[in-house]
Amino acid sequence: MVPNDAIPNLRESKPPWLVADLRSDHAGETGAIWIYQGILSTTNEDAVKEFAQHHLATELCHLEEIEKFLDKKDRSVLIPLWKILGFLTGALPALIGPRAVFATISAVENFVVAHYQAQIRRLRNENIHPHIASVLQSCRDDEAQHEAEAASFISSQPGKLLRAWCCLISVGSNFAVKLARMI
Ligand SMILES: [Fe+2]
Ligand SMILES: [Fe+2]
Repeated sequence: MVPNDAIPNLRESKPPWLVADLRSDHAGETGAIWIYQGILSTTNEDAVKEFAQHHLATELCHLEEIEKFLDKKDRSVLIPLWKILGFLTGALPALIGPRAVFATISAVENFVVAHYQAQIRRLRNENIHPHIASVLQSCRDDEAQHEAEAASFISSQPGKLLRAWCCLISVGSNFAVKLARMI
């Protein structure tokens, strides 16, 4: 028999900051799925396809997990925008080549790891929603693995243009999270 405290109460009330963060996580995982779909729709490289398919499967699981504890009414109204931006974030570098794809994924995942880490820390500090904290921890670990894998494929320092693109990705992700937290 499963002990009572092992059954998470997914409907337990959440503070407004957590709902806002989960809305941004849901938007982010949706965007992540579309990043990999964007890559898969434009790349001709087998190694990139294999990389994207493997990551896409993980991102689909992440979205499914987050949907379990974020009510439909609390999800971002900008989902179509996150899908389009995600698609472009994957498709554009995939048109350039594998190096651009791996640098983009490394930049995105670096951002996401820090984003999840901050929420896990706050949940643990406030001693609330241990189940959500452990799901976010598992997502965070997967994203760190995605980042490490992408970084391992970048053999030399990216050029100026690619560095500027990755910088744009980080600034854009930061702005997207702020927006998704609100609406
Ligand atoms: Fe993810
Ligand atoms: Fe990821």
